[in-house]
Amino acid sequence: MEKILLIDDETDVQYSFRRIFDSAEIEIVPANSGEEGLKLIPKLKPTLVIMDVRMGGISGLETLRRLRQTDSKLLVIMMTAYGTTQTAIEAMKLGAYDYLLKPFDIAKLKEIVASALKAARDMRQAVSFQPLLESEDYEQGIVGRAEAMQNVFKLVGQLAASDATALITGESGTGKELVARAVYHNSKRSTQPFLAINCAAIPENLLESELFGHEKGAFTGATVQRIGKFEQCNHGTLFLDEIGDMSLATQTKILRVLQSGTFERVGGNQPVSVDVRIIAATNKPLEQAVAEKKFREDLFYRLNVVRLAMPPLRERRGDIPLLVNYFLQKYARKHGTPPKVILPETLRQLEHYPWPGNVRELENVIQRALVVAKGEAILPADLPPEITRAVAAPKTEAAPAPTAAGPTAATPVGGGAPSANPTDDIQPLVRALFLWARAHPVCKLIPAVERELIINALREHRGNQVHAARMLGITRATLRKRVEKFGIKQELQVK
Ligand SMILES: Nc1ncnc2c1ncn2[C@@H]1O[C@H](COP(=O)(O)OP(=O)(O)OP(=O)(O)O)[C@@H](O)[C@H]1O
Ligand SMILES: [Mg+2]
Repeated sequence: MEKILLIDDETDVQYSFRRIFDSAEIEIVPANSGEEGLKLIPKLKPTLVIMDVRMGGISGLETLRRLRQTDSKLLVIMMTAYGTTQTAIEAMKLGAYDYLLKPFDIAKLKEIVASALKAARDMRQAVSFQPLLESEDYEQGIVGRAEAMQNVFKLVGQLAASDATALITGESGTGKELVARAVYHNSKRSTQPFLAINCAAIPENLLESELFGHEKGAFTGATVQRIGKFEQCNHGTLFLDEIGDMSLATQTKILRVLQSGTFERVGGNQPVSVDVRIIAATNKPLEQAVAEKKFREDLFYRLNVVRLAMPPLRERRGDIPLLVNYFLQKYARKHGTPPKVILPETLRQLEHYPWPGNVRELENVIQRALVVAKGEAILPADLPPEITRAVAAPKTEAAPAPTAAGPTAATPVGGGAPSANPTDDIQPLVRALFLWARAHPVCKLIPAVERELIINALREHRGNQVHAARMLGITRATLRKRVEKFGIKQELQVK
């Protein structure tokens, strides 16, 4: 549940916000003045504050100023009527996330709130190198014990300890954004904002103004001054995603900020100084763009000082079981249900698929399988046809490469990798069972599991106790005793 603190003395506005947003996911908590809002914040811990510029008591701007003395990250959206736009701009300089003009367009309001909630989640959801699903509410982990991932972790650690610009490269879905957030959360700038901009998603002519802001009258439609992300994110970390899609003109400005910490707003001639750490990412080969003169060579070298290359999933297949297990637990937690288990055959198919969409594709496949699976286990039939087809096809590129998950690899993160020892495959199943049992504390787990295993083995071997006992790794005498103890039905024993 996300709490939005609405500081506004007009009851009409409070009423409309409640009508628009109150839901299972969002709660609007009103405050009638800046003073009241500031008092509420420490206890309420809102995700977002939406505040009017003009109110009785202290103004919105003063409220924001006081808030910033103790909290540099809490996201604030200012609301303003036309005459007070200048104040809203001042608020942006103080680190407000955005502002809304009254009377507001509901679609625009919803869009800004959604984008602020996403930015708040990025800042709040700590990213660690080990997923701690059970302990921390908003912890996200980077799963991986392949050697290539161990190198990534090392670099993330080094980057977090420094203030250097970094370039993260890798195919789509390999975890570039996740890693950028890991650097931020572990860096000394973690108490300051983190803002992400997808350079490919913003039209070229608007990107420059989005990043650097513009002066009033800079171009048609620039009716008021605008503060860009660099100014808003002062002292923080700016994540420039898909930097390969940036125009040469914008690249020049970025280079200048990197070299001198200054820039001018579009249409302006006053240099603005900022202290912003840049983390850039791209899924395009920038070397090639440099050769084609689409990307500035000097900017490339400047960004490339520390390069973090995310390995594609098909080159670290040993991590697939770990990731599967991680996502099964993640979604079980999210839905408040016991985690489903994955059959070894299903896992085998996942390990053979080449994963062009990398971890994101794997996560989607697991989410889909959880919806489709009817029982407690995920079957091969619950996977999308492209995976089953790829596995059925004659072996080509899809053959699993030897994995880095040897006996000397780091401690497994919540699951086992396929290895020389077949009992390792049991780990994720037992883990899932354990989590299920934790959610059902009345159950006597070990006897219940023992009983079910015996019933299954007897069924499989049509009641043949010798074969069933062999399969279970116990003696026939032990099997008999258990059959009696658990009152396993007669019809299972004979035939
Ligand atoms: N090593 C990992 N461990 C756990 N989850 C991961 C890992 N790598 C990626 N993910 C998850 O996969 C999804 C995609 O990751 P992310 O958005 O960071 O990839 P990306 O490289 O930025 O992709 P794109 O190029 O498509 O933007 C996210 O939900 C992320 O949490
Ligand atoms: Mg991304």
